[in-house]
Amino acid sequence: MDNNRPQWGTRAGFILAAVGSAVGLGNIWRFPYTAFENGGGAFLIPYFFALITAGIPILILEFHLGHKLRGSAPLSFSKLGRLEWLGWWQTFISFVISIYYSAIIGWAFAYTFFAVGQSWGEDTGAFLYKYLGITQGDTTYGFNDFPSFLGGMQWKVLIPMLIVWVIVYIILSRGVQKGIEKANKFFMPLLFILIILIAIRGITLEGATAGLNALFQPDWSGIANAQTWIAAYGQVFFSLSIAFAIMITYSSYLPKKSDINNNAFITAFANSGVSIIAGVAVFSAIGFMAAQSGSEVGEVATGGVGLAFAVFPTILNEMPMGEVVGILFFLSLIVAGLSSLISIVETFIAAFSDKFNIERKKSVNISVGLITLLSLFFATGAGLYLLDTVDYFINSYGVAMSGLIMAIVVGWVLNYTNKVREYNNQISDIRIGGWWNFFVIVLTPSVLGYMAIKQIATDLAENYGGYPDNLIGLGWAVAVLAFVFGFYFQSLRSKNPEFNTPVKEDESA
Ligand code: ALA
Repeated sequence: MDNNRPQWGTRAGFILAAVGSAVGLGNIWRFPYTAFENGGGAFLIPYFFALITAGIPILILEFHLGHKLRGSAPLSFSKLGRLEWLGWWQTFISFVISIYYSAIIGWAFAYTFFAVGQSWGEDTGAFLYKYLGITQGDTTYGFNDFPSFLGGMQWKVLIPMLIVWVIVYIILSRGVQKGIEKANKFFMPLLFILIILIAIRGITLEGATAGLNALFQPDWSGIANAQTWIAAYGQVFFSLSIAFAIMITYSSYLPKKSDINNNAFITAFANSGVSIIAGVAVFSAIGFMAAQSGSEVGEVATGGVGLAFAVFPTILNEMPMGEVVGILFFLSLIVAGLSSLISIVETFIAAFSDKFNIERKKSVNISVGLITLLSLFFATGAGLYLLDTVDYFINSYGVAMSGLIMAIVVGWVLNYTNKVREYNNQISDIRIGGWWNFFVIVLTPSVLGYMAIKQIATDLAENYGGYPDNLIGLGWAVAVLAFVFGFYFQSLRSKNPEFNTPVKEDESA
């Protein structure tokens, strides 16, 4: 069975795929607005803290699990100790994320064309709302009229989204080496060039320095704010593609001889590098806008999901060479998004084919078919609010929570951390020391546990985003269902004898 498992062609191929997964909308769309909303300079300290004490240690753990146990997330956790549900839970988190992730890449597709001639006009916010089919422009739009709240299918959103799915389908149906690896070998260098060009344009703009100061000047006042920490951890987990089954799946395709510690460091630093460069580009542009209007950096822009699609176009209108920069920017979103989306979908393709013993091709057909149908909801007039809500709940109660449970299971329940270190250090140049145990066993679960309590208290006290109850109910339902489905799928019988067969120690390394 194991011999049939696909494998990466080269080490560089794996690293490019892992970086391709990590670098995504999270870096170019989410990082700048999350940093902006959390005060810029106040955000970077918690961000780097979360990266070093939680992001990298968990990435090392996931590379270990995939490499040693050689399975999709459910299969790997089942081999680790009858924890298949944890793998399915993470897989369903990916399933949910992929549904709306494709919609954002679709918007970027459309916006690449809008950037030509800047057809969004002067009032870019109104243009965005019109494009998405949100007529009333407020958050109460139609939600109380369930089920008619969807507000009709928006063809200009739907068609680019379907194009995204066709591309994803073609890449994934070609397999791991010929599809995913090859695509990333093309996407990653292209993305790097795009991002560098945009950043160069950004820092050479008048007023850029003020924007950069807002991002890089440490602001210690934010340290005491729990919300900033929650945002930083959420950003690191989403951005590194950890705790949602991806890195376990990708590393299950590694050959036996692989330096996994080093691969984890390279992936994490490349990922943060891109986030910082994207942050530089966007904050310099915001600085430029502030200089144009003679106001403070913090005043000119609003954060939120609209930063890339409403605020940035306004800046492009004013910017010398704005058309070209706009095209490059939205292209970079597409490229970064596609290379991540294929990794997100690969988690359930691999999981279904491991569990139900079906061929890859069939699993690709079922997975992409199903997910395309579900993503239709995000091509309706309610798409933006559905997306914002589902993104919030699945990240808070899916990604962060499953990361917490994973750390507790590995560190406390299975007492497995020393085994990870031993195994990894045998095959890696960079050796991980006792600090790794401390981060996984003590620090990360403490911070994530505290965050979880704080978050539940906040969400019970008030509706996220001021949204109506039925939308919030949907957010909770999606998060809870991903968890419940984990147990349900564990209970289904598998014809694959590898399930629930604990790996023997001497089989490893
Ligand atoms: N890691 C991916 C991103 O940052 C999911 O978008």
